[in-house]
Amino acid sequence: MKQTNQFPKGFLWGGAIAANQVEGAWNADGKGLSVADVDTYKPKASNKDYNAHVATDLATIQKAIEDPTDTWYPKRRGIDFYHRYKEDLALFAEMGFKTLRVSIAWSRLFATGEELEPNQTGVEFYKNLFAEMKRLEIEPIVTLSHYEMPLALSVKYNGWVDRQIIDYFVRFANVCFDEFGQYVKYWLTFNEIDSIHRHPFKTAGVIEEKSAPGEEVQDVYQALHHQFVASALVTKAAHEKIPNVMVGCMLTKLMTYPLTCDPQDVELTLKKNLENNFYADVQVKGEYPKMIERHLENEGIHIAMESDDRRILKENTVDFITFSYYMSMAESGNPQAERTPGNTVLGVKNPHLPETDWGWQIDPQGLKISLIDLYDRYQLPLMIVENGMGAIDTISADGKIHDDYRMDYFRAHFKQMKEAIDEGVDLIGYTSWAPIDLVSAGTSQMSKRYGFIYVDADDEGNGSYDRMKKDSFGWYQNVIRTNGAAL
Ligand code: BG6
Repeated sequence: MKQTNQFPKGFLWGGAIAANQVEGAWNADGKGLSVADVDTYKPKASNKDYNAHVATDLATIQKAIEDPTDTWYPKRRGIDFYHRYKEDLALFAEMGFKTLRVSIAWSRLFATGEELEPNQTGVEFYKNLFAEMKRLEIEPIVTLSHYEMPLALSVKYNGWVDRQIIDYFVRFANVCFDEFGQYVKYWLTFNEIDSIHRHPFKTAGVIEEKSAPGEEVQDVYQALHHQFVASALVTKAAHEKIPNVMVGCMLTKLMTYPLTCDPQDVELTLKKNLENNFYADVQVKGEYPKMIERHLENEGIHIAMESDDRRILKENTVDFITFSYYMSMAESGNPQAERTPGNTVLGVKNPHLPETDWGWQIDPQGLKISLIDLYDRYQLPLMIVENGMGAIDTISADGKIHDDYRMDYFRAHFKQMKEAIDEGVDLIGYTSWAPIDLVSAGTSQMSKRYGFIYVDADDEGNGSYDRMKKDSFGWYQNVIRTNGAAL
């Protein structure tokens, strides 16, 4: 059958952002501190030293709590989306967005996480945001937890290690469904739930020093289990409250290839990919994979479960699968193999792939392989909810940003998506990360730019915060207008 270049009718083209990286207004209108508000910008850390940026210790957190400024905490400023969202939505609408993925800052609704009633000003903000999106015919996709839990829950309970956090999260989610369910059909529970092992504080408020010595890994698995249960419980609530709702899980797809066909490289790679799939297995199939359970047993890790937990997981699985895809990695049994950073991971360098300024390996075909792999494994609709390239943009003499490298990156990825669709993968949407420059999750830099829209702000927060279209703005607009035909 002859294939056209067009994507399926109704394909959801758009972009993705997260509250903690865009909203700013960190202490406005009753918002409490979130774990993101204590993330520090570290000017001296190298772009390629991912670990230097993500670690958070108690002393840093305490210092940040006492610091009432935003000088070293760029996520407190974001890009001032809280005040400028109408202008930004208008630009997204101009690009023809069918959808926009956003998250809800939990601490804007529940400042400490323990309040019984939500902060009405916060509720109104999100109501207005979603109403405006609907007016512009932009379908919201909403993540409930994207690295922004109330800091108070982290400090008091060591985050998700404590089972009580499930109740607080369910209360928050119910308010979201009751208040915003009329506007929002697509909900994601936890952003990159697997990332808890790479940055436990950002993902789940877990502070390593609060764990008993030797219990650090055990605590992270316990926190993860609580997130799995919470995810299932809020999936149930959404199904009961919102007609035709679609609830999805969200994973970091970290595609790994064997560096060579040495069986040792192949086995190590297989295990890496199995580990990466584990999180979707639980949320899609409703149970822990047997080999993961065995692995935990072998490692002496015991997850405390209540009698109903397995039933809750089994009965409340997700409706679709979403994931982020930025890069791929290789794996090797050779300890001397050269390594390069990726999305908060360190992998073996693949000699066939170029990399970004942050060392992330650019691999469009890896996206197609990921799509085929995920669809074959789960047979549920898929959505790519993050994909993009962090780059240093410069304003040329003509006052414009000629970001051909960004268009090249996206074009190559879109072609691979289309090929996967033509091979039978049910891909229903795509949201680029990020359609507008924002504060980097990993490094808290503004200078790591992802957008089609430039934001005039630097790493220290200087600038007018004015928005400007890059060349890629018109290009993506045309891709959406032609539903992928004009790549
Ligand atoms: C994803 C996160 O892992 O990667 C986003 O969900 C993040 O929040 C994105 O921004 C890109 O990472 P970074 O570190 O370049 O912002």
